[in-house]
Amino acid sequence: MKLHAADLVARKGQDPIAMLTAYTCPVARAVERAGVPVILVGDTVGMVEMGFESTRDVTLEHLEYHLGAVRRGAPDTHVIGDLPYGTDADPDTALASARRLIAAGADSVKLEGDKYVVIEHLVANGIDVVGHTGLLPQTAESFAKVGRGEAEARRIRDEARGIQNAGAFMLVIEHVPYELAGRITADLAIPTIGIGAGPDCDGQVLVINDALGLGDYWPPFSKQYAHASDTILDVARAFSREVASREFPNNIIKLTGTGRG
Ligand code: KIV
Ligand code: NA
Repeated sequence: MKLHAADLVARKGQDPIAMLTAYTCPVARAVERAGVPVILVGDTVGMVEMGFESTRDVTLEHLEYHLGAVRRGAPDTHVIGDLPYGTDADPDTALASARRLIAAGADSVKLEGDKYVVIEHLVANGIDVVGHTGLLPQTAESFAKVGRGEAEARRIRDEARGIQNAGAFMLVIEHVPYELAGRITADLAIPTIGIGAGPDCDGQVLVINDALGLGDYWPPFSKQYAHASDTILDVARAFSREVASREFPNNIIKLTGTGRG
């Protein structure tokens, strides 16, 4: 059963919330089947799937494409769509952008930083909004941890509270000292979802490619539950070898799995 914003808020202080990113239909289908209650179609798609150097290269059209694929794979899961860089620059632009993400399949939208007036405008127009504080990849100059030092920590705590007060129903906290994320989580009435923010958040999010080991770089705070890039390499090598030796297609065998083939 699909969780709505109010259901997720009610999870605060109860069960931890698991969130994974997904960008494609088969991955979304597996994530839904596993019972993960929230999928984020993040603008990380630009870096982990599209080969861009930055999330700033991602457009609204890219997000719409991936949201459609994820929604078709996970019809009963809460899906958050990221507002790409620049598409939330002012309240009216953000509302038009958010409406496109919702039309493409999102249940809610996420945006980075202290855009309180934008959040208020979206919420006033019936859009459920997830905030994002700490490391903000759309504008950060590096992926280093932020929020070290008292002044920075206070700024991020204030930002978190500002995002809540503007009407966001949930908050992603990225790559800050664990103690700071714990304090923000205790401060707020809305659930916090951490990434590289320690164990004291109300939930955790991982980029699915990082969890799969699909790629050639992953952040130190992620965990590789598999090594999908190695599997692809093995498969491509085996296929290539078998075509050369004419073993394939004479040797087709069916491996067992959850697919329909
Ligand atoms: O785009 C994304 O995947 C994100 C997560 C890292 C929180 O914003
Ligand atoms: Na993002």
